[in-house]
Amino acid sequence: MSLDLETLFSEENNIPAEFALSEQIDQREYLSNGEMLTWDGQISEVFSPICVKTKDGLQRKRIGSYPVCTEQESMQALDAAVKAYDNGRGVWPTMSVADRIKCVEDFTRKMIEKKDIVVKLIMWEIGKSFADSVKEFDRTVEYIYATIDALKDLDRDSSRFQIEQGIVAQIRRSPLGVVLCMGPFNYPLNETFTTLIPALIMGNTLLFKPPKHGTLLHYPLLDAFRTSFPKGVVNTIYGRGNKIVPSLMQSGKINVLTLIGSSRVADELKKLHPKVNRLRAILGLDAKNAAIINKDADLNLAVSETVLGSLSFNGQRCTALKIIYVHRSIAQEFLKRLSAEVGKLKYGMPWEKGVMLTPLPEVNKPAYLTECIEDAKAHGAKVVNENGGQVSESFFYPAIVYPVNAQMKLYREEQFGPVIPVVPFDDLEEPIEYLIGSSHGQQVSIFSNNASVLSSLIDPLVNQVSRVNINCQCQRGPDTFPFTGRKDSAEGTLSVVDALRSFSIRSLVAAKFSESNKELLNEIVSADASNFLSTKFIF
Ligand code: G3H
Repeated sequence: MSLDLETLFSEENNIPAEFALSEQIDQREYLSNGEMLTWDGQISEVFSPICVKTKDGLQRKRIGSYPVCTEQESMQALDAAVKAYDNGRGVWPTMSVADRIKCVEDFTRKMIEKKDIVVKLIMWEIGKSFADSVKEFDRTVEYIYATIDALKDLDRDSSRFQIEQGIVAQIRRSPLGVVLCMGPFNYPLNETFTTLIPALIMGNTLLFKPPKHGTLLHYPLLDAFRTSFPKGVVNTIYGRGNKIVPSLMQSGKINVLTLIGSSRVADELKKLHPKVNRLRAILGLDAKNAAIINKDADLNLAVSETVLGSLSFNGQRCTALKIIYVHRSIAQEFLKRLSAEVGKLKYGMPWEKGVMLTPLPEVNKPAYLTECIEDAKAHGAKVVNENGGQVSESFFYPAIVYPVNAQMKLYREEQFGPVIPVVPFDDLEEPIEYLIGSSHGQQVSIFSNNASVLSSLIDPLVNQVSRVNINCQCQRGPDTFPFTGRKDSAEGTLSVVDALRSFSIRSLVAAKFSESNKELLNEIVSADASNFLSTKFIF
């Protein structure tokens, strides 16, 4: 496909009406302590990665603005969350599981009513294709329903007494307290909700900070949060993270930090907590997943999975393939086929059918990627695909860079964008050593049709990363599978079931199995006097 960046962006009046935002969204409210509070202070304007042609050249389209609150408002939100938790005595942490599930179901119904606008905002705020934005919304709703089912199962298993060594006990999972939840821009709805919803449904109270790119899409959902949960259970904080988050951590009142973002930020924030042992962290962090393509691999399959793995959503996935090791004997053929396949990918505006390559939301990203390529060139690599690395404002055409070596930024840095660094190897020991020396440890993809080659890789690699993918790209899903990482890639495990465990702790009520205790326990259960000590079965 020949590259025509001149016509990539068009005039505003050429945007198809069904995908256009009917109006700019200037958010002047935020949810705190059960109320939508009005904000008349500083704001941040939101410009889409989608540019329009104007008489002054290409300009990112303005789509709205949101509050930039201060430390004062975030501390008020913290107070609201602390009060709603009330040392574990609040309405929400003591509510029965069945009633908490009803609130989450109520929220989900209201969320679904807002699907159209949320999907459009995902597309406009981060440039994700319309089809993938719809997928992100639907996957999130499915995740919520799967979470509800998993909690029902958990609760059913806990709805009974256990008797061991003369002790009778009931064991359940209890909330941890106040959770500070921060999501990433690349899956601003889905990844945020895969921590927020489990944290909430387990009885914690929340401070929720939307990502910098992907803020407005949460605005239509704030009223659903307000009306579905007791006052102070869900509170939003808006503003610059480095201004408003440190004091929250320093207060010592945050019990759980959940962040999908950089390990540098996570490390800094954790250290600010005055009692680190009281802080639980559930983190999804940096990753630089490698593909290892051996000489006996099905080359067409390896190429198609490399394209998907490294370029879905323009490579902006934590699970993306960010470095490709290929056996030197097949490297030239691999590059030829990979370049041809990349050349066939449709680029354009997110609403275009079948589009794969779209503009990037981070303003500095095209310049950073260009710098990585220049650095690689200075150390002996080339861009091997036609048009690779061409830029038009927020759009960056994918570049395949070869041969990459240890002196280059692309060898270690997480590029998080459409650049595919390819490293030739002679011996499988070379990619294994790379993974051992890496500060990341999320996943790896291995390509071979030879069972003994695969097994020689599986055993060393499962102890380096948390998922070894055979003959396919890396990915998070299915959401019921554990999603985690070693080293600087994660802390804690997220899957539908694991997330419920991550945001809770086991608590038990125990007594000696005496006649008088039996009577007392029976009385409490029959009178339905406790939400914890209960044998009710959720259907
Ligand atoms: O950014 C990281 C996401 O969790 C990746 O999810 O592998 O399903 O695209 P995915």
